[in-house]
Amino acid sequence: MARLLIVHHTPSPHCQEMFEAVVKGATDPDIEGVEVVRKAALAVTASDVLEADGYVLGTPANLGYISGALKHAFDCIYYPCLDATRGRPYALYLHSNEGSEGAEKAVKSITTGLGWVKAAENVVVSGKPTKDDLQACWELGATVAAQLMG
Ligand SMILES: Cc1cc2nc3c(=O)[nH]c(=O)nc-3n(C[C@H](O)[C@H](O)[C@H](O)COP(=O)(O)O)c2cc1C
Repeated sequence: MARLLIVHHTPSPHCQEMFEAVVKGATDPDIEGVEVVRKAALAVTASDVLEADGYVLGTPANLGYISGALKHAFDCIYYPCLDATRGRPYALYLHSNEGSEGAEKAVKSITTGLGWVKAAENVVVSGKPTKDDLQACWELGATVAAQLMG
């Protein structure tokens, strides 16, 4: 069975709402044959990443960059996963209140290094997620999961 790994840092209710919508989309009953695994960014291991077939990344923008937690995840998994995960799909959702450019640029740079392939446009939300924002999160999760269907 294919596996989608959601690596997320979820430090607030707004981020939690986005995370839950992504999970709902990824686990939609119409998507068959895809196991969805969720891992907090501070707990993810290289084995988790190697054993998955695609990824959703979720983080707030912090200090003009991705969260330290997601950065820590990449610091730990980058070299163990380099080459072995090349070509796998990923997507990014971000919560930012002042500007997401630095965080988006960071993820682009890191995933380019890993050779991951962007499977959906980034979803960026400010403030309280609207219904449309949560729908976009749902679609993000569903899009990556659907790509992993056999
Ligand atoms: C230390 C720290 C740094 C932050 N830096 C940024 C930043 O550079 N850009 C930004 O848009 N938001 C920044 N934020 C806001 C977070 O992105 C925001 O708190 C997070 O997305 C959760 O949103 P919420 O508090 O509205 O739920 C920062 C928050 C903290 C705690």
